[in-house]
Order: sequence, then structure tokens, then C-alpha cells
Amino acid sequence: MFDFMTPFYLHYYNSRAWMDTYWMGHPVYKCPLDLFLYQEILFTVKPDIIVECGTNVGGSALYLAQMCDLMNKGRIITVDIVEFERTKHDRITYLTGDSASVDTFNRIKQFINSGDVVLVILDSDHTEQHVYKELMLYHQLVTVGSYVIVEDTILGHPVYPELLPGPMEAVARFLPDHDEFRIDKSKHKFHLTFNPNGYLQRVK
Ligand SMILES: C[S@@+](CC[C@H](N)C(=O)[O-])C[C@H]1O[C@@H](n2cnc3c(N)ncnc32)[C@H](O)[C@@H]1O
Repeated sequence: MFDFMTPFYLHYYNSRAWMDTYWMGHPVYKCPLDLFLYQEILFTVKPDIIVECGTNVGGSALYLAQMCDLMNKGRIITVDIVEFERTKHDRITYLTGDSASVDTFNRIKQFINSGDVVLVILDSDHTEQHVYKELMLYHQLVTVGSYVIVEDTILGHPVYPELLPGPMEAVARFLPDHDEFRIDKSKHKFHLTFNPNGYLQRVK
């Protein structure tokens, strides 16, 4: 059983090291062990399109794009409600908008061709309501074998309990009606993730 209540878990999060983490000089607000899981997932799934909700300054998009460079495959469509100055990369398309709006979803869909393998990452507004709306929209894009990764399910479990209900509650609300997805518990293997129960694999 994965235990996300260990003292180290809290110690690591509260150290704020994740706010001082960089990919090629660009801030990336992730746990490095999650980035390693991303690399493993990307290599296995080999997506044509990676949809990212929540770009910020684009550190994670650049990480994804450079992983795609190594595999010589994949594009990143990333959306944020705020415009920032960001690094340009041939594989990255930056969009501005509310990720939970149908309009944004429809704009993103235009980049996807029939038969594309699609992976989705939800890392924008971390309230239950917003993440649930995103799940209800973007799960439709995820191809069998691929993932929707719900970031920061750690919120309230155990960090920042005042932010509940958050992403983990959205996952709990979404899954009972979507048995085509399952929590991939193998992604808890490093015993430190910001996304406990957040790696949702499409199995059918
Ligand atoms: C945690 S940051 C993203 C971090 C980035 N993915 C990374 O790993 O470096 C969350 C981002 O979500 C954006 N955001 C908040 N509400 C949003 C919304 N409704 N639609 C799209 N983006 C939103 C914020 O502007 C912020 O840049």
C-alpha cells in the first residue's frame, strides 16, 4: 500500500525544493521523481500529441518537447489562462485560454488527427471543480494504453488541507463512471510523487 503520509513526504514538499527545480534553466514545478515517471510513460506510450493544461513559464512543456526530440516523435499543445514569456520550441504550441472551457477544448482538438496517440496532463487550477471539468472534457482524447495525468493530487493528501477538495477528489468523482480508466498504482513505486492516485491509464 502506497503511504503518502510519511514524514519525508511532508518534509520534501514543505522544503519548497519543487519551487527551485529547473529543466535546462527553466523553472519546472514538479517532483523530479515524477519527471522520471513521465520519461518512462513517454517512452512506453510514444504519444503523437501531449496536451498540457497549465503551462506557466513552460518548463514542463520544454521537458516534454526535449523528451520527444530524443524519441523523434510528438508535439505538445499546452494551454494557460495567463500569457508568459516562454522559450520557443518547434514541437510546442502555446495557447491562451481557460482549460476547462469547451471553446479551449475544441481549439485543442483541432491539433489532433484521427489515429494519433494522445496523452493528457492536467496541471492548471487545482480545485476539485476545475479538475473534474477538465477530466470530463479531456478524457475523451486519451487513447487506450495512454494516460491522463492528474497533477498535484498531493494537495490535501497531506499538504495544504485548507485547499480541499482538490484534484484527488476530482479523480474520486470521475472514476466510478469511467471504468475505461484505472489508477496505475505502479506509478507509486518511488514512494514520493506529487500525483498519488493521479496516473490514470486508459485500459479500454
Ligand atoms: C502549477 S502551474 C503549471 C506548472 C507547469 N505545468 C510546470 O510543471 O512547470 C499552474 C498554471 O495553471 C494556470 N491556470 C490556472 N487556472 C487556469 C485555467 N482556468 N485555465 C488554464 N490555466 C490555468 C496558471 O496560470 C499557472 O500558470
